[in-house]
Amino acid sequence: MKLLLGTLFLLPLAFGSMQAIASDYTIKFSHVVASNTPKGKAAELFARLVDERTKGRVKIEVFPNSQLYNDNKVLEAMRLSSSKTTGIMAAPSLSKFVKFSNTLQAFDLPYLFNDISDVHKLVDSSLMPRLTSGLNKKGLHALTVWDNGMKVFSIKGEKPLKNTPADFNGMKFRIQSSNIAASMIEKLGGTPQKLPFKEVYTALGQGVVDGQENAWSNVYTKKFYEVQDYISVSNHSYLGYLVVVSNEFWNNLPADIRDAVSISLKEATKANREYAAQADTDDRKKIENGKYAKVVDMSTAERAAWRKATAPVWAEFRDEIGGELIDDVNKLLGR
Ligand code: LMR
Repeated sequence: MKLLLGTLFLLPLAFGSMQAIASDYTIKFSHVVASNTPKGKAAELFARLVDERTKGRVKIEVFPNSQLYNDNKVLEAMRLSSSKTTGIMAAPSLSKFVKFSNTLQAFDLPYLFNDISDVHKLVDSSLMPRLTSGLNKKGLHALTVWDNGMKVFSIKGEKPLKNTPADFNGMKFRIQSSNIAASMIEKLGGTPQKLPFKEVYTALGQGVVDGQENAWSNVYTKKFYEVQDYISVSNHSYLGYLVVVSNEFWNNLPADIRDAVSISLKEATKANREYAAQADTDDRKKIENGKYAKVVDMSTAERAAWRKATAPVWAEFRDEIGGELIDDVNKLLGR
């Protein structure tokens, strides 16, 4: 009896290890947001598609909510990793590549995009390889861009952010690692503070910062709206992600595996755009219908005032990003 129980107990273990042996490659996909966001859902769909397409030869393990790494750490870990069979993939926001690419900073220029269709015009254009070109030298391979959405500003205080610069005066805002975002906040009259995404809710709740900028799905899923009084629908810049992997790991994969991963990513990217559009309306509505932060629309005149106040940021970063590239982006977007 003892022997039988022992054998029964060992059976699932044996199966488990057979399955582990069956996959030739493991990719740890690390991200910092919730699973029920446009990025979280796209990552899970991508994992399923790769599993089906490679018949289990490639296993993608998705780690949401900064469980494995924060975005700065993941890029370092990816660049340092030398395993040929276990790779790291991530989708940090475009702003978080500041240490690795000057050109990608273009995405952060305030009011570059009027809306998400402008973003897609750029992302789907032949300018994209120019925007990501520096990454290869840093050991990173760019795979695709995923949407979250246009950013809104939230604040804890007596009144919403609407005028410039008075409403920003004396207020501290959490931003991502972007130097352009830092300059933009200063031009508006506020004080920027760079913090990892994981720390934002607590920083807002404890008053370490007064406000932050983000897309609707992050404001909703991370409950920022519960510790903020107002959300201004500023749509002042874009929150999107660059899906990346290390050059070395990517180049070592057999061609058929690379094809299967690429096709799956293409499908996941298409779905991601739908998830993002949906989250934009649904998550906004859920916040509007709740009892916490009040959502405040902005008039054309108010938007124009913010745009004017932040315009000097463009000149400040023009040389760093590349003047010709900025001109080409503007031309593409019909400016
Ligand atoms: C942030 O840090 O606010 C965002 O980059 C988080 C994310 O991945 O959407």
